[in-house]
Amino acid sequence: MKRICLLLTFALGMTASYPQSGYRLWLDYKPLNEPLSDQYRTHIRTLVFPVNSETDRVAKQELLLALDGLLGYQPELTDRIEGSGALVIGTPASLPLLDDVREAQGALPKHDEAYAIRSIAGDNTPMTVIIGNTDRGVLYGVYAFISLLQRSQDISMLALAEAPKVQLRVLNHWDNLDRTVERGYAGFSLWDWHRLPGYRDPRYTDYARANASIGINGTVLNNVNANALMLTPAYLEKAATLADIFRPYGIKVYLSARFSAPVDLGGLEDADPLNPAVQQWWSEKVAEIYRYIPDFGGFLVKANSEGQPGPQNYGRNHADGANLLAEALKPHGGVVMWRAFVYEDTEPEDRAKQAYNEFKPLDGKFHDNVIVQVKNGPIDFQPREPFHPLFGAMPHSQLMMEFQLTQEYLGFATNLVYLGTLFSETLRADTYCYGANSTVARVIDGSMNKQPMTAIAGVANTGTATNWTGHPFAQSNWYAYGRLAWNPDADAGTIAEDWLRRTFGNDGSLIDALLPMMMRSRETAVNYMTPLGLHHLMGWDHHYGPGPWITDKMRADWTSVYYHKASKDGIGFDRTVSGSDALSQYVPEVRAQFEDPQTCPDEYLLWFHHLPWDFNMKSGSTLWAALCHHYYHGAEEVADMQAVWAAQQDKVDHIIFQEVTDLLAIQREEARRWRDACVLYFQQFSDMPIPDGLESPEHPLEYYEQQQFHFVPGI
Ligand code: GCU
Repeated sequence: MKRICLLLTFALGMTASYPQSGYRLWLDYKPLNEPLSDQYRTHIRTLVFPVNSETDRVAKQELLLALDGLLGYQPELTDRIEGSGALVIGTPASLPLLDDVREAQGALPKHDEAYAIRSIAGDNTPMTVIIGNTDRGVLYGVYAFISLLQRSQDISMLALAEAPKVQLRVLNHWDNLDRTVERGYAGFSLWDWHRLPGYRDPRYTDYARANASIGINGTVLNNVNANALMLTPAYLEKAATLADIFRPYGIKVYLSARFSAPVDLGGLEDADPLNPAVQQWWSEKVAEIYRYIPDFGGFLVKANSEGQPGPQNYGRNHADGANLLAEALKPHGGVVMWRAFVYEDTEPEDRAKQAYNEFKPLDGKFHDNVIVQVKNGPIDFQPREPFHPLFGAMPHSQLMMEFQLTQEYLGFATNLVYLGTLFSETLRADTYCYGANSTVARVIDGSMNKQPMTAIAGVANTGTATNWTGHPFAQSNWYAYGRLAWNPDADAGTIAEDWLRRTFGNDGSLIDALLPMMMRSRETAVNYMTPLGLHHLMGWDHHYGPGPWITDKMRADWTSVYYHKASKDGIGFDRTVSGSDALSQYVPEVRAQFEDPQTCPDEYLLWFHHLPWDFNMKSGSTLWAALCHHYYHGAEEVADMQAVWAAQQDKVDHIIFQEVTDLLAIQREEARRWRDACVLYFQQFSDMPIPDGLESPEHPLEYYEQQQFHFVPGI
């Protein structure tokens, strides 16, 4: 038994060297308790799992590793399907089509990546069949089965059938070729470019396993602020090695392309999309890429945004730029993910309106292998934003979602913030663009405009940190993203619970304590950072800590005062018709929810309205008092989180326990700093006292304004 375990450990590039560090993520197969594992063993007496591909091979290996860890046991491997207690895994093509297998096949959704798991009644113990239309479906089915065991679920009467609702479920790595990670807080880039292609770090395999286990099927390796070198043979060879490692796990490689590459690399005079020489260059470059990576996914492009080159440099528009690359990729089956996160060169009257203004007129002009990648909100991954007005507003184009897993504006990898609730809040928002119940989820899964291609992206939070994500709980954000990418309607609470069980085990009292804490954690951060619809109050450049006083940057829309507009007469950004009128970018049903400050939900109040300090809130208090209470409440909630966590000491591994304990202590300090700095800063304008019962800030405002943070990660 020991020997099998060791062999598997090496074969999978596993983690013997990082015990109890969080390295194993939610794939840490710790032994289950005895009565349960006994019961499971009777259901997995024999294993029929024909191996016809690399994907089958890794799926089988994963299953054996899990059984070894969870049950301390290996089933008898056989090719004889006989009823009692057999686990039968494969595709309709790889398995003998006995009646039992046919029964399971009948449950399979028609989708390449679909799987079904069925218990088929036998003489005494049922047989379990995991069946997929393809080996990738089988892989996902195997991971789903492992998850059932990890979460101590009953496996005697299974009738599951699953297909992903979104086709392309990708991570976006903002990783640079020098291994720094833009907005990365978990160490350096996972991609060891210097030693690639020669050295195949076992981490690459573990990365692929983690992604496959949650259904992620694509990865963009390099930063959207792209270096053209990525497209040179030396780097393509390195990328091809990663693609080879990821392929068995159903994961395709994509690259961020620098729009000016024909000039930077090809020596052309311009990168004008209508220049035939430029078109020729891209077509040859793409053909070259496919020689390295035959199943290359395509390009992600950031153009004419934050100084990146793009088609507008040549008087062309975003559709011209995207279509140029789409034409080059088309013969090979590749796609273009063209980002809508754009900045005009001139300072806009309201940055929240820009993407819509630039892209809406281009609706219907993009080729069929282009999908426009839209951030969840109209500004930039703030702790809370309303959904982006482009969702549902481009019925003749394909749109996809971009979420951010790395916590650029949510306390980096220091703060415990579960983002499943943030993602879900956006996905469940109703755009009303196609009538009621046109949720963002239904826009991006293609059910509203029947777009043939569907996709979702998450800006990765991974790095060389032993636990991958810096904060142990930030792993849950990677996990939640994958699960919601597979099914945007999935419930954030169920996902958090699954993650807790798979990460910390099935102790009911631990789940009961930690689940509410996770579910509340994002609102807690909103409260101590940017309550009531405030946004963009962070420190300059590094985006760390509070900075409501930021006034004098290169562009007004990079300052905080541009967004909160605090003055003696009140606070907030008027985006109604009397202000920037950004609200007009939404359909009337959505406008109606937000345009009246008396009825606008508190969460979005100062996003859409500029209101006097003594504005009468729904709660009956003044706006100023409500603002103070949110800040103080947020900071107190971090203290509550500390208490909840402290009570788990005996239930979690001591290294993780200590790490989270320390990080929560830092978070508490940070929450107080946000609270005190913001309350004192805004008080200068409100001229009103901090409400009774709330303690005084620790230091005067100048203290917070003068604090300097050097070498903050992620820049
Ligand atoms: C934010 C972030 C940048 C990033 C940009 C983007 O502005 O701070 O670092 O490049 O988003 O999404 O392109």
